[in-house]
Amino acid sequence: KETRHLEELFTIDTPKLKEITHHFVNELTKGLSVEGGSIPMNPTWVMSRPTGHETGTFLALDMGGTNLRVCQVTLTEQKSEFDIIQSKYRLPEELKTGVAEELWGYIADCLQQFIETHHGDASKMGKHPLGFTFSYPATQNYIDEGILQRWTKGFDIAGVEGRNVVPMFEAALKQRGVPIKLTALINDTTGTLVASAYTDPKMMIGCIFGTGCNAAYMEDCGSIPKLAHLNLPPDTPMGINCEWGAFDNEGKVLPRTPYDAAIDKDSPRPGQQAFEKMIAGLYLGEIFRLIMVDLHDNSDAHLFAGQDISKLRKPYSLDSSFLSAIEEDTLEDLSETLDLFQTKLNISPSRAELGLIRRAAELIGTRAARLSACGVAAISIKKGYQSCHVGADGSVFNKYPHFKARGAQALRQILDWPDKADPKEEDPIEILAAEDGSGVGAALIAALTLRRVKDGN
Ligand code: BG6
Ligand code: GLC
Repeated sequence: KETRHLEELFTIDTPKLKEITHHFVNELTKGLSVEGGSIPMNPTWVMSRPTGHETGTFLALDMGGTNLRVCQVTLTEQKSEFDIIQSKYRLPEELKTGVAEELWGYIADCLQQFIETHHGDASKMGKHPLGFTFSYPATQNYIDEGILQRWTKGFDIAGVEGRNVVPMFEAALKQRGVPIKLTALINDTTGTLVASAYTDPKMMIGCIFGTGCNAAYMEDCGSIPKLAHLNLPPDTPMGINCEWGAFDNEGKVLPRTPYDAAIDKDSPRPGQQAFEKMIAGLYLGEIFRLIMVDLHDNSDAHLFAGQDISKLRKPYSLDSSFLSAIEEDTLEDLSETLDLFQTKLNISPSRAELGLIRRAAELIGTRAARLSACGVAAISIKKGYQSCHVGADGSVFNKYPHFKARGAQALRQILDWPDKADPKEEDPIEILAAEDGSGVGAALIAALTLRRVKDGN
């Protein structure tokens, strides 16, 4: 009975996917209009695709939601080739909800350490241009500006929203005597799009399915009424960071469950990122945890009856890798899942409970993949793409079992493609693993920006 109830809550059939996609197309258009909509559709000032002939050495700093990465990228004379050296740093959890100066100080320290390791004394280093991947919604009037619209992905640091983050970051660098010039501030999706387009001319959309969920594509300025006052030629390309995580914040089409509502209510920004909260890696484990607690406390099934579930009660204690592990359990008796519950949560589910656990994980993972496809389909419909590649990155895309296949199947259903004769045949629109957007993409965007400045546009 519980399984059936979960299936009803979490299954999204094809007509519903189509309805969501239809609304999504309208919302993309609305976001570009003067009135705006809930999807920000932020112009990024990335105004061309790479040719593959860009050259130069660039620093790239990637502030995602989980890791901090510093890279040095050399775009070589060889077409579409590059060399990269990089260091990864953990972004301490407490910085995500701490004080702004500490965040910028920590990032500047990592950058300084990287430069000293690779170049010796940072203050004596020649100035390499820096591409800063700041993966949060930001208003940009220029490419080297980023006014944070709101924190997403669980970040909550006072005094940053509504302000340009570039001077804050540069002040921390100056304090440490690191002579860096920030050339471009970019989003991870825009980086993904540009890095993927560098090696594959069919790449039209860049997506992240990771801690957060978002996409970018190239629009024509003539279709962006909110930029009309700039009188740019209508066929000028403009990279748009959709920030589609905010899709349907007003709750018109998404079939949200009580668990989604609970996640939203207890998040630092209730009412925001409705779409993202149903799809992104940050939330998948939490949706699962809420279901388990609910089935223990409130259902006739009395899940894990008589057992101590205090560990399970801790918010955000299960991440999406926990769900991945459940879905990866190939053993008939689900004994790997049993092991996981015993070691991580001190709970020993019965055979029937293991079946329910597995089904819950499948339902959450499948819903996320199918909803993601609505976004990809919506951009493709809006732009009239009949055939293209979509570059995707992020932990959910790369590591969550069956995410790619489930997403591809949903795309096929939404766009009414006939079944393939040969399973190896490409779909008209294929979502493929992307090049490193925040390393190579940031370097390329810095290169494209310097070229644009030199050409005087
Ligand atoms: C990485 C990119 O590969 O994926 C980052 O370099 C991006 O820029 C990240 O933010 C997204 O994945 P996750 O899972 O770390 O959020
Ligand atoms: C969140 C951010 C967005 C980013 C995405 C993936 O949605 O708001 O800027 O692209 O996560 O990291």
